[in-house]
Amino acid sequence: MFRANGYYADLQGGYLFSEIARRVASYQKQHPGADIIRMGIGDVTRPLAPCVITALHNAVNEMADAASFRGYGPEQGYDFLREAIVAADYRARGISITPDEVFVSDGAKCDVGNIQELFGRDTVVALMDPVYPVYADTNVMTGRAGKYNKEEGGYENIVYLPCTAQNGFVPDLPKRPADVIYLCYPNNPTGMTITRAQLKAFVEYALENKALLLYDSAYEIFIGDPDAPHSVFEIEGANRCAIEFRSLSKTAGFTGVRCAYAVVPKALRCRDDNGGDVSLHDMWFRRQSTRFNGVPYITQRGAEAIFSEEGRKQILEIAAYYMQNARIICQSMQKAGYTVYGGLNAPYIWLQTPGGDSWAFFDELLNTKQIVGTPGAGFGKAGEGYFRMTAFASRENTLRAMERICGQA
Ligand code: MLT
Repeated sequence: MFRANGYYADLQGGYLFSEIARRVASYQKQHPGADIIRMGIGDVTRPLAPCVITALHNAVNEMADAASFRGYGPEQGYDFLREAIVAADYRARGISITPDEVFVSDGAKCDVGNIQELFGRDTVVALMDPVYPVYADTNVMTGRAGKYNKEEGGYENIVYLPCTAQNGFVPDLPKRPADVIYLCYPNNPTGMTITRAQLKAFVEYALENKALLLYDSAYEIFIGDPDAPHSVFEIEGANRCAIEFRSLSKTAGFTGVRCAYAVVPKALRCRDDNGGDVSLHDMWFRRQSTRFNGVPYITQRGAEAIFSEEGRKQILEIAAYYMQNARIICQSMQKAGYTVYGGLNAPYIWLQTPGGDSWAFFDELLNTKQIVGTPGAGFGKAGEGYFRMTAFASRENTLRAMERICGQA
């Protein structure tokens, strides 16, 4: 009889956002008239920018005509999109990345989950704590995390990097050797960011220890602090020790359209089993061309539009709308006596839960105010005692939510 992948049994409960959706659906069933305000999963609510809509319509028309119809696209994404990405997100910032180092995909979540297929089973992984659950769960699924230790509140083979109020939610360098280090800045879930000096320390650690940084900068458009790095490749030497993940989900409202990209530099080398070294770029190309048929042409044309001058202006306006929500949440919660973090360089607000237990706070908020957030414990042990709210709701719902929780907005 065929056998299941036993490592799935090591996962702790369901995927965080599915579990929240389950609890909310159950509440809604018991209270059919309840007017629930959703500030849990970071899903966008503003429509696509006008430039994207025009580009999508034009691409649909092209697909209707035999002369301009497209079938399978190039494995890494169309040149027009990869060139636009490099020009706007890298060259404009003085960063030397070439279009053939960019891999267009259908989501950063898929990329960060899939990338660890390239690493040996005995690779030691370091994770920030709290952490976006995909980094942890995908390593559990492949058996790299080991067993879950309930007393310790973590997996035995994972090196945890606690992010606390004391360290400004930027972890110290790993105390135990780590081969692959996941970093996410601006951070999900804490909404905090990292300085160039702090990021440089991680790059130097990775170069010295022949480790790899997996840098998730899906929220970079929300950076307000001029000193915060937008890309790991702003740091010298990062092209020899880092892969970067970017997403259009939050950047341009593509959560339902699906487009992202990973930058895998050609200079990045990895030790192989025979004592030689291999190119991670070549391995990722091999992996993607085997398992993935690319992002639809129509979507890539829509994505291209945001990298034009006009497109950039339009998406920055939408990002500013969400960041105004973030300010409203921070100010209202602070006035009401809550201790809050984040919300300045990312659309997430990380607040301390009165009484500590974050799932209890989740239930209380849902039951008494009909508001959904995300309990910090769902992001790991160091997330307990915190609660995440997103700034992605509409302005109206953000104001209504603050009135319900704080008595004013
Ligand atoms: C979140 O709420 O953390 C994100 O929306 C989840 C995701 O991007 O997959």
